[in-house]
Amino acid sequence: MVGVRIITLVTILTLILSTVESVKRRKEDVPFKEDVDHAFNVVRSMIDENANNTDKTDLPFIGGLVRLSFHDCIGAGGCDGCINHTLIDNAGLKTYSDKLDKEYDANFRDLMSRADFYMIAAISAIEKSTSDIEDKKFRFTRRRDFKLGRKSCPTSPAENKPNVIANSLWNIDDVLQFFRSNFSYTDNQIVALMGAHSLGRARIENSGIEGRWVKSPSREKGKLLPGSVLSNEYYKTLANRPEWFQKIRSFNGLTKTQWENRKEDIDSVTLRGTPDQPNMLTNSDLCLVSNFTLNNHSTGEIKTSNMTDGCNIAFNSSQSCPVSPTFERVKYYAKDQNRARWVADFSEIFLHMTERNVIDRRALIKYSELKKRPTRFERYLYMMGGPIRGF
Ligand code: HEM
Repeated sequence: MVGVRIITLVTILTLILSTVESVKRRKEDVPFKEDVDHAFNVVRSMIDENANNTDKTDLPFIGGLVRLSFHDCIGAGGCDGCINHTLIDNAGLKTYSDKLDKEYDANFRDLMSRADFYMIAAISAIEKSTSDIEDKKFRFTRRRDFKLGRKSCPTSPAENKPNVIANSLWNIDDVLQFFRSNFSYTDNQIVALMGAHSLGRARIENSGIEGRWVKSPSREKGKLLPGSVLSNEYYKTLANRPEWFQKIRSFNGLTKTQWENRKEDIDSVTLRGTPDQPNMLTNSDLCLVSNFTLNNHSTGEIKTSNMTDGCNIAFNSSQSCPVSPTFERVKYYAKDQNRARWVADFSEIFLHMTERNVIDRRALIKYSELKKRPTRFERYLYMMGGPIRGF
C-alpha cells in the first residue's frame, strides 16, 4: 500500500516537473545568461568556419555580420531581426542572415528573439575582430554593457517595408541627414560609427562597388588580415588623403562610382583578395572630409573643378573642395595617440545602435545583469507560487 502511494506521489511530481520543464522561455523575453553565452560561442565558431584562407586570418563573416546588424537597425522597427532582402541596398546580406537563421531556428528559437540573436552575432564579430590585438586598450571589451530583450518584428526574419538604407553615392549633407533622422546622432557620433568600414569589403555583385576601405591585404604572421580587424586605419586613409580618383563601375546594368587611390583604370574585381587591389572609398566615406556637390545623383559623379561651380577633391589644389564639418573629427581619430579613444567611442555608439529596438526599448537588460537559468527545483517552487531568485 505504502509502495503504491509512493509510486503515485512520484508520478504526480514527475508530471508537475515535466510541465514546468516545458514552460520554456518565451522568445520575446530577456534570455538567460547561459543561452546568450552559448549563442556567442556558436557565432564565434561560425566566423572561424567561414574563413577565406586556411590559417583563418581573413574572416569575411566579421564584416558581413556587422553590416547585417546596421541594416537590421535601420527603419521603423529598429533592430528587430527583420531584413527586406528584396531591397537592392541589402544585397549580399542573405549569405549571413541565412546562416544565422538556420542556427537560430534549430537551437535558439525558444530561448531568445531573432533580433537579439542578430545583435549577439554582431557583438561577437566585433569581439573577434579585436581579439588578437595585444594592447587591451584597442580591444572591444563592452560585452557587459550589451543589452538584450529585443522584440522581433511580426514577420521576422523577412520584412516588406521599403526602408531607406544608406547610399554609398551620397555627399555629406545626405549622410548627416540620414543618421540624424534614423538614429538622432551628432556629427561626432556619426564619424565614430563610420569607422566600422575598417572591417570587410565591398563586392561589385552586391553593391556595384569593389574593394576594401583599409589597406590591401598584407599579413603579419598569425594575425588577422586588415579587413578582419577593427582599427582606425579608415580615418588615416581619409585624413592623409592621397590623391583619389573617381572611377565609374558598371555591373548588371547598374552604373556607380567609387574612389581609388590609383589613377590608372585597374580591373579591381580580378584583383579581389590580392595585395594589388587598389584601396577604395565611396562618396559617403570621402564626404567625411570633403564637402562636394553631386553632379549626377544616380551614378554619384561629383561636380569637379573643370565645371564652373565644381571643386577638386585633392587638398593641395587652389580649387580644393571646402572641408566637411566632420573633417576635424576624422583627423582626430586618425592620430595614433587617439586610437584608444576611437575604440571607446566606437564601442559606445555601436552599443547604442544595437539598442534601437523601437518596439520596446525599456525592456532591454544589460548582459552583466542577465539572470541564470533557474534549476528544475526553483521552477517547481515558482509554479507553487514561491519567490524565486532569477526567474
Ligand atoms: C552612410 C552610411 C553607409 C553607407 C553608404 C554604407 C555603404 C556600404 C556599402 C556600399 C558596402 C559594401 C557592401 C557589399 O558590397 O557587400 C558596405 C559594407 C560594409 N558596411 Fe557600410 N555603409 C554605411 C555605414 C555603415 C555603418 C554605420 C556600419 C556599421 C556600424 C557599416 C558597416 C559595414 C561593414 C562592416 C561592411 C563590410 C561588409 C562585408 O564585408 O561584407 N556601414 N557599406
